[in-house]
Amino acid sequence: MPEHEIIAADHDWWRTAVVYQIYPRSFADSDGDGIGDLAGIRSRLGHLADLGVDAVWLSPFYPSPLADGGYDITDHRAVDPRLGTVDDFVALTKEAHAHGIKVIIDIVPNHTSDRHPWFEAALAAGPGSAERMRYIFRDGAGPDGALPPADWQSHFGGSAWERVTEPDGTPGQWYCHLFAREQPDLNWDNPEIREYFLGTLRFWADLDVDGFRVDVAHSLAKDLSEPLRSQPDLDRNLPLDGSDPLYDRDEVHEIYRTWRVLFDSYDPPKMAVAETWYPTTSRTYLYARPSELGQVFDFSLLKAEWGRDQFRDVIRRSLHDHQAVGGGLTWVLSSHDVPRHPSRYALPPGTSPDEWLITDGVVPAVDPRTAHDRGRAATLMMLALPGSAYLYQGEELGLPEVADLAESALQDPVWERSGHTLKGRDGCRVPLPWTADGPSFGFGPAGAWLPQPEWFSGYSVQTQGADPDSTLTLYRQALLLRRALNADDMGVDWIETDDDQVLHFARRNGWHTIVNFSDRPCPLPPGRVILSSRRIDGTSLPGDTTVWISRA
Ligand code: GLC
Repeated sequence: MPEHEIIAADHDWWRTAVVYQIYPRSFADSDGDGIGDLAGIRSRLGHLADLGVDAVWLSPFYPSPLADGGYDITDHRAVDPRLGTVDDFVALTKEAHAHGIKVIIDIVPNHTSDRHPWFEAALAAGPGSAERMRYIFRDGAGPDGALPPADWQSHFGGSAWERVTEPDGTPGQWYCHLFAREQPDLNWDNPEIREYFLGTLRFWADLDVDGFRVDVAHSLAKDLSEPLRSQPDLDRNLPLDGSDPLYDRDEVHEIYRTWRVLFDSYDPPKMAVAETWYPTTSRTYLYARPSELGQVFDFSLLKAEWGRDQFRDVIRRSLHDHQAVGGGLTWVLSSHDVPRHPSRYALPPGTSPDEWLITDGVVPAVDPRTAHDRGRAATLMMLALPGSAYLYQGEELGLPEVADLAESALQDPVWERSGHTLKGRDGCRVPLPWTADGPSFGFGPAGAWLPQPEWFSGYSVQTQGADPDSTLTLYRQALLLRRALNADDMGVDWIETDDDQVLHFARRNGWHTIVNFSDRPCPLPPGRVILSSRRIDGTSLPGDTTVWISRA
C-alpha cells in the first residue's frame, strides 16, 4: 500500500499527539520530602500548557517499596501516600483536562512488588496453593532442588529465579522474576490475574484517564509447560513466528483484544501504547493493531546512532512496518530508561551508552556543544515525522545525562544486579531544575532524592524561559508550529541529496525537513525557513542542524 493511503481520523487524537512523559518522583515536589508528587505536577501544568503538549504520560505513582523506581507495585488501584491520594489524582486529571492536556497512566501487568499482599500470601501458603498460582513458582532442579528451575535470565542481571524459604523454615521453591528479585512475575495463565487487570483498567478509566502505557507488554503470555524451555540469552533477536517461550508469543495478543473491548466501551475510547523493549521487527507493530492497543513504542530511532543512514533506515522501516496493521506510529528519543539523547549523540562513535555509564569518577568527556546541537537537531527531525512523538521530562530543557553520579547515590537495581558494572538509569532521573537557584533548583522547598549537579542552574526553566535562543524556546516554537503544519498523512517523500550526510524529507503539504549530520555547513535548499535548530545566517545550513522549510 502506498505510504499516503492511511489517513488518521480526526477523533483519533493520539495518532498525531505529542505526549510528555512525567517521571513523578523527579518532576516537582510540593511538600519538601525530596520526592516529586501529584500536587507538584498539578502546580506545573502551566509549564506543560505553555510547552504545547497534547498529553502527559505518568510513570507509576502507585504504592511501591521503590526497588525499581515505582515499577514494583503493592497496590495497582491506589496512590503512593508519599505522592498523594486518589483524590489528588482526580484533581490533577481534571485540571490537566481544563488545560487541554490528556492523561495517560502506566499499567504494570507483568509483575508486582514482592511486598504485594498477594506475594506475601503466596509465601505463607506454601507449595501447591491457590495463592502460589498467581505467580510462577517451581521446584528447583538438582537432587535437593538447589538449582534454578530453568536458565532464564533477569533483565537487570543474574538469574530470573529466586529461592524462597517455606513457612516451616526449610529451603523451598523458586519464583520467576524477569526483572529485580523484588518483582515476581504474575501468572497470566490464571484467569484471576486477567480479571484483576481488567478491573484495574476499569478503575482508572472510570476516573477519566485518557489512556494507558502498558509496561513490558510483550512478556505476559509465557510458555509454562514442563519441562521449562531454555532462555539463556536476553540480547538475541526474537523468532518471527511467536515461538519464544517468554516474549512476544502469539497468545499475548488475545489479552489485548479483551482490553480493547473494554477501552472501546468508553466514549471516546481509551488509547493505549505497548512498551516492548526488544529489537523492532515486523511483529512489533502487531501490538498497535486497532483491535488491540492501537500504539506501540517504536524504539528503533532511540537505539540508532547519530548518522544520516542510520536514522533514514530506521525511519523508512517504521513508516513501512506500521502500515501493515493500520495502527499508530510513534517516535521516541529519550525516556526514563536510557541516557538522555543529547549526550548519547555526542559520545565517540561506537560507544554504547551503557558502556559509557560504567565508569565512576572519570566519565568519558562528552562535548556539551555537540550534545546541545545534535540533541536539538534530532528533536526537530522527530517532530516533523508523521505520527505521535513522545518526549521525556527535561528534554525540553536540553538536559544532558548526569553521567557522574556518585556510586553512593545510585538507586537503580541495575547497579546492584550487574555486580557494580553498570551504573543504570539514575542519570536521566535526576529531579528537574525549575529555577536558577534555591533549594533543589525549584524542584521543591527542600532537597532532591538524587543529587542535582551545579550546572543544572543554567538549564532551568527560569533561565531559559525568556531566552529566544534557548532549547525551551525551540521546543515551544516547534510544538506550536507542528500543530499548524502537521497533517494526517502518514508518509513522507524522501528527497535525494548530493551530500551523503544530509537527510531531506517532505510532507505532502510542502513542509520540508533537512538534517545536516556532518560538522560542516551544507547549502540551504530553497524555500521559506520556518524554524531551525541553530541560527542560520545566509544560504548555508550549519553542521549538526535541522531546518524546517515551507514550500507550500
Ligand atoms: C519497563 C520500564 C522500566 C522498568 C521495567 C520493569 O521496561 O520502562 O523502567 O524497570 O519495565 O517494570
